[in-house]
Amino acid sequence: MKTFPQTFLWGGATAANQIEGAYLEEGKGLSTSDVQPHGVFGEVVERVEGDSALKDVAIDFYHRYPEDIALFAEMGFNCLRVSIAWTRIYPNGDDAQPNEAGLAFYDKLFDEMAKYNITPLVTLSHYEMPWALVKNYGGWGNRQVIGFFERYARTVFERYKGKVKLWLTFNEINMSLHAPMTGVGLPTGSSKGEVYQAIHHQLVASALAVKACHEIVLEGKIGNMLLGGLVYPLSCKPEDVFKTLQENRSWMFFGDVQCRGAYPGYMLRELRDSGITLAITDADREALRSTVDFISFSYYMTGCVTADEALNQKARGNILNMVPNPHLASSEWGWQIDPLGLRTLLNVLWDRYQKPLFIVENGLGAKDSVDADGSIHDDYRISYLNDHLVQAREAIEDGVELMGFTSWGPIDLVSASKAEISKRYGFIYVDRHDDGTGTLARSKKKSFGWYKEVIATNGASLKA
Ligand code: BG6
Repeated sequence: MKTFPQTFLWGGATAANQIEGAYLEEGKGLSTSDVQPHGVFGEVVERVEGDSALKDVAIDFYHRYPEDIALFAEMGFNCLRVSIAWTRIYPNGDDAQPNEAGLAFYDKLFDEMAKYNITPLVTLSHYEMPWALVKNYGGWGNRQVIGFFERYARTVFERYKGKVKLWLTFNEINMSLHAPMTGVGLPTGSSKGEVYQAIHHQLVASALAVKACHEIVLEGKIGNMLLGGLVYPLSCKPEDVFKTLQENRSWMFFGDVQCRGAYPGYMLRELRDSGITLAITDADREALRSTVDFISFSYYMTGCVTADEALNQKARGNILNMVPNPHLASSEWGWQIDPLGLRTLLNVLWDRYQKPLFIVENGLGAKDSVDADGSIHDDYRISYLNDHLVQAREAIEDGVELMGFTSWGPIDLVSASKAEISKRYGFIYVDRHDDGTGTLARSKKKSFGWYKEVIATNGASLKA
């Protein structure tokens, strides 16, 4: 019977702006997420008095976290991924002092997790930054933002160093190429040069956070976080194969810098060929040498790449401009389901970096229906997660060092791409709907008991 390593971290993953709500409570400032009510690809809508968005309340985790953490503990979680909202700590990003109420909230949250021996895995920035830094400084396009981020990171490392040992820098750092406002606080339509300059600043900030974590958090470990956007060639034509290499490099570039400490040659060429000269200082080059301890990533789907422009259509609901794979089925949102791709990706990343890996997001967004007696039979979710976990276990057999698995959205939350709640990921149902109605009551889906058993048996109950 194949099981996972004894030290394996099992749990779920969340993000502050998708669960907390309380978007202006106790001194919190507006974040980029607060001004993107239609999701991470949506346009910016400046807040005016009286308007509201689903994320303003989200699932009200800010007030209900004790109940939710008790449910996670009941499932047997020994790990929970959360993010800190930068704007709870520094509401405007450039404030002289941190906001004590915001710091105190996360103290309470980590203490609650400690009661159940749940290890926190904390993302410093999950798809949001202080809106004031965008308005007043131009987001990550401005080098000064590096210093504001480093100060924020040092503040939270100092405050929580006794409670949090596992950290992540920027969620899906490679997403800036597709959603510049969400990733680096730049408007849609920014030039390639502007986006890469902002990305450069963020990569430096990420490396400075790594250095700070190593200085401040005794026995701490800090990883990066990539959107695992693995693509396959649509055919065996050499042109398709080469384009696939380039496409995979476009996101692995971030991992290359964060794991190897310098820009890879292929990216220097890409920038040169595009006529882009980045402002990179000697101090930046030195900073980048602080590399991550482990690599974390999200995995939902794969896609294909073709050099044939006529075939290069966009898949429905597909965020990465990938051509659909004719051999794969899709979720209701058009995300192509590929469990074996997870094993491939784990092996690719392990072969490339030889650093421990952590799957910090994976799951199925689906519409759930509630039976008259309140039960929810989400067998589709069970089957998706089962099949991916089986492949993760295979990768471990292949020799990959895998630290853990936190499924995305262990409790229903507001989706990032569309800011809707009807796209549900949870083992725990939340009675809330896209129009904002609902009691916010929590209930267990069928997958709740299934995941509990997987964790209790350390994966032995999975069906290969
Ligand atoms: C990842 C993000 O891209 O995918 C999460 O890190 C997000 O924030 C998740 O929620 C699933 O995407 P969506 O759009 O279904 O919420």
